[in-house]
Amino acid sequence: MRRTSRLAALTAAGLAVATVASGCSFLGLGDEPGDLQVYTGRHYGSEEVFKKFTEETGITVDILSGDDAEMLERVRTEGADSPADIYMTVSAGPLWSAADDDLLEPLTSPVLDEAVPAQYRDADDRWFGLVRRARTVVYDPEKVDAKEFDATDTYAGLTDPKWKGRLCMRDLSGAYTTSLVASLIDLHGYDKTLEMVEGWLANDVEIMGNDVELLEAISAGTCEVGITNHYYLARAQAEGELEDVELYWASQKGAGVHENISGAGVVATSDAKSKAQKFLEWLATDGQDDMLEGNHEYPVNPTVPVDAAAAAFGSFTPMAVDAEAYGKLNPDAVKLLAEAGYK
Ligand SMILES: [Fe+2]
Repeated sequence: MRRTSRLAALTAAGLAVATVASGCSFLGLGDEPGDLQVYTGRHYGSEEVFKKFTEETGITVDILSGDDAEMLERVRTEGADSPADIYMTVSAGPLWSAADDDLLEPLTSPVLDEAVPAQYRDADDRWFGLVRRARTVVYDPEKVDAKEFDATDTYAGLTDPKWKGRLCMRDLSGAYTTSLVASLIDLHGYDKTLEMVEGWLANDVEIMGNDVELLEAISAGTCEVGITNHYYLARAQAEGELEDVELYWASQKGAGVHENISGAGVVATSDAKSKAQKFLEWLATDGQDDMLEGNHEYPVNPTVPVDAAAAAFGSFTPMAVDAEAYGKLNPDAVKLLAEAGYK
């Protein structure tokens, strides 16, 4: 990405909406510079939930959004001068990397310790999962019988030649494919995962630009089976669309479906740490419903009910989220995908 240091200038100017280089976008929710500067990889109507936080607490928020890696690089490069108070991501690996680079502040928060189960937060309380998402199989029920899927290892099962010409998958944008592959390397090792990805490609998989395009391609009959994050289908179906696409929970007789978290930590150089901590505490408790309503993910907080559109898919067993493995294996996943020729 090309980097700029325009956020501070934009914030000082109190601009409502502006775009900075490299596709990051800045959104100031009020006329004055906000109390908190949030660097976020989320791109799902985040402003609504942040506005609600401001209504309830009086703490104002500005958002800079881009992808997880861009935002991490920005915090790293800005160093002590970074205006960022919160680093928020759509996957666990970059949170682990940020903590490993000492960019996140350890928090002492009984509220977060109670709201976020241990498997969804850092052992040293430097980052916390806020919502969960599953990356699983979707299909056209008119052309595919769910019994055709390998219930033990559904991802590996898609290398079977019977799927030739029937598959759509997402490109490397947004890091979802890379995170999935990192988790598969963690599970199976590099060589077996390379074989798996090569097996997908050998089935003439059609590569789509994002999950929404992939779901639309299945609905339109371009392909029969794909892999997507569950909430893209939940969102469409909540609006009465894509009802001709069905979701299948992958690997339920094996290691479980690939699950990831969207989470956040307080930036170590923040000058508003107690407000930043309050923001995370609110998102993990009173703000959970608003987060779910916006994007149909699953709550991390076990006391919060699952939203109706996501609940319609039924329950599932997830693969354990291992942020350290996903963070450490991310470079291997990038290398593996390049080696397989996945673009
Ligand atoms: Fe997404």
